[in-house]
Amino acid sequence: MKVSIIGSGNVGIATALYLAEKRVSNIVLIDVVKGWAEGKAMDIVQASPIRGYDVFINGYSDISMIKDSDVVVVTAGKPRLPGMSREDLLRDNVKIMKNVSESIAKYAPNAVLITVTNPLDVLAYVALKVTGFALKKVIGMAGILDSSRFRYFIAQELGISPRNVTALVLGGHGDLMVPLPRYSTVHGIPVSELLPKAKIDKLIERTRKAGGEIVSYLKTGSAYWSPGSSAAEMVECVVRNRNRIVPCSAYLRGEYGIDGLFSGVPIKIGKNGVEEIIELSLTTEEKQALHLSADKVREVIEKIEAENLI
Ligand code: NAI
Ligand code: 2OP
Repeated sequence: MKVSIIGSGNVGIATALYLAEKRVSNIVLIDVVKGWAEGKAMDIVQASPIRGYDVFINGYSDISMIKDSDVVVVTAGKPRLPGMSREDLLRDNVKIMKNVSESIAKYAPNAVLITVTNPLDVLAYVALKVTGFALKKVIGMAGILDSSRFRYFIAQELGISPRNVTALVLGGHGDLMVPLPRYSTVHGIPVSELLPKAKIDKLIERTRKAGGEIVSYLKTGSAYWSPGSSAAEMVECVVRNRNRIVPCSAYLRGEYGIDGLFSGVPIKIGKNGVEEIIELSLTTEEKQALHLSADKVREVIEKIEAENLI
């Protein structure tokens, strides 16, 4: 199996390292900056005798080296800086996504495409439109990360292992994301039995702002270890045909009452990408929150379409 990562910055390299540690596949790293991906690849493989991973990792600035990849991950683009929302990255990153998507369609037409670049749900849409790939082949990485953050905050609050916690965050990857305490449990025990509502509400708010909280500390960029581990988990599900249920951004055609957009929903992820979209029953309030989040994504897509950016 061949996995290519386009964009060998912080998230791309974290993804590559997690994949190498799990020995998932050989990896091609690409970056537009000459020498960057080459150097990063060399650095990672030179740790392999110590860490014990025996996969090939090579870096190039020539994107045609993604040829015949089984999975392509796109992390190319600008990250957030303090005070910036994910939408502030829009114009630059639409251009980058458009550009790399054309190459993906040309060189790796059979790949499953996992997009990471922000604004996530909008750029997954750009990638789908530009590649012309089947709907199930394009997946955005976000829900798995947002849910991991919510899981961690619940575990931290209860002073228990994060491994005991499952949680679900749906909707777009933005401040309107929809953490669902009703579908969040600690070893099967609903989180509402262990924490008062006011405390859960605080954790929800922290989850929504978690990416921004890290940006405000880092100042020069955004999170990458948790995003990298999330992207690597999705790649592993595809390469090893795990059929795991994970929240991801998928193109919806009426599911959850949303049509023609990417939004975070639970999917079964396997060798073909989105093997199935799982439709949960939601309360009226949860549905409204999900639609509000989707409306925001639609608004941004209409803006870039009106400006002929795609
Ligand atoms: P970074 O700046 O460290 O890396 C981006 C890399 O992309 C740079 O090395 C740059 O040279 C490269 N690049 C730019 N244009 C390119 C092109 N046309 N072809 C190949 N490479 C190109 O940024 P970082 O931290 O890795 O973040 C990358 C993106 O991922 C950002 O848009 C960020 O907002 C997003 N992100 C999304 C998350 C999510 O949950 N979906 C989580 C974390 C980051
Ligand atoms: C994050 O959530 C910035 O989207 C990025 O960390």
